[in-house]
Amino acid sequence: MDDLSKVFHMNGGDEPTSYSRNSSLQKRAADGISRITSSALTQMLSSSTNPAVLSMADLGCSSGPNALSHVKRLLEVVDGNAAASEIRVYLNDLPTNDFNAIFKGLPDFLNEVKNERDRSIYIGAYPGNFYGRLFPDKTLNFVYSFNSLHWLSRIPQGMYDERGSSVNKRSIYITERSPPVVSQIYYRQFREDFSSFLKSRSDEVIAGGKMVLLLLARSGAHHYYSSSFLWEILYESLSRLVAAGEVEEERLESYDVHFYAPSEEEIEEAVKEEGSFELDVLEIFEVEKDPGEFPSYGAAVAGAVRSMQESMMSHHFGFRDGTVLDKVFDHFGASVDQRLTDLRTFTAVTVLTRL
Ligand SMILES: C[S@@+](CC[C@H](N)C(=O)[O-])C[C@H]1O[C@@H](n2cnc3c(N)ncnc32)[C@H](O)[C@@H]1O
Repeated sequence: MDDLSKVFHMNGGDEPTSYSRNSSLQKRAADGISRITSSALTQMLSSSTNPAVLSMADLGCSSGPNALSHVKRLLEVVDGNAAASEIRVYLNDLPTNDFNAIFKGLPDFLNEVKNERDRSIYIGAYPGNFYGRLFPDKTLNFVYSFNSLHWLSRIPQGMYDERGSSVNKRSIYITERSPPVVSQIYYRQFREDFSSFLKSRSDEVIAGGKMVLLLLARSGAHHYYSSSFLWEILYESLSRLVAAGEVEEERLESYDVHFYAPSEEEIEEAVKEEGSFELDVLEIFEVEKDPGEFPSYGAAVAGAVRSMQESMMSHHFGFRDGTVLDKVFDHFGASVDQRLTDLRTFTAVTVLTRL
C-alpha cells in the first residue's frame, strides 16, 4: 500500500475499542519523562530565546485525552518561567485522525486554562504528515512528539517482490525467522523517515528552539528480544484465523507492520548526520508492566495495539466488523499475560536543540 496515510488512524470516538479509552499506557510513558520534558522547556524559556509569543507543536497528538493533558502540563511549566503574553499550541496528526473528538472538549479546556492565567492561549489543529513540512519557516519554539515516531511513513519500500509477495513471510515484523534483508529494509525506511522528520523540523524550529521526542525503541542491536515480541504474539493470534479457515494464508503472509523500534545508536547517528540539531539527551527506558485500570497488563496492551492496528488490519484482511478482531485480541491479551516474564518493552527519549 503506497499511501497508508489515507487508511491508517487510531480508532476514533469514545467506544470501548477507541484510542481514547486505550491510551493510558502511552500517557504513563509521557508522564514518566515529564521531568525531562519540563526541564527542556524550562531551559529553552530561560535562554535568550525566551519569546513574547510562544509557539508549541504536538506531532502525532491522536484523538484521546492525552493530547490536552500534555498541553495542560506544558502550560504549568510555562507559568513559572515565561514572559510570553501569548501561547499558541498546534496539534498535528494525519488527516484521518478523529480531531473532532479533541475539538469537542476544547471550549471547556480553553475556559479552564485561560481562567487560571493572564495570557492569551490559542489551540489549533494542523492535519498533515509529520515526515514532511507542516509549518511556516522558523515559527516553532518547542516541539514534542510522544509515542508516534515509531510509525513509519509506509510499509518499508522493498518489502514486496514484483509479484506483490512479501519477502518477510511467516512474520509481520523483524523476527528470528526473517531473512537478514528484512531488518535492512526496515532500518532504511526508518532512516529515510527520521531524516525527513528532522529536515522538515529544522526549517520550522527557530534557533535555540527544542524538541522532545518519545518513541518505542529497542535495547541493544537485536530486535528479537524486545521490540518484536509483541508483533510475534500478534502473528500467532492471526495464524489461528488461518488455521480456522477465516483468513487465507497468503493474506497473512503479505501483512507487515509499518513500525520500527530504533536503537540508541541509530537515533544518534541519524541526528548527527542530519546536522541541524544538537543532541541534549538520549535515554532508553524499560516500560513498566503496569495494567492501570485494566484487569491485566495483557488486556491493557491488547486494547492499545488494537486501537492502533484495527484500521490497517481491517483494510488488509477485509474484516467487516469487530467480531474477528475480538477473537484475535482476546487471544493476544491472554498470550501476553502468559509470557509476561519474557516481555520487555523499551522507549527512547531524545531532546534536541536547533543549532
Ligand atoms: C500512539 S498515537 C500517540 C498519540 C499521543 N501522542 C499519545 O501519546 O497518546 C500515535 C499517533 O501518531 C500519528 N502519526 C503516525 N504517523 C504520523 C505521521 N506521519 N504524521 C502525523 N501523525 C502521525 C498517528 O496517527 C497516531 O495518532
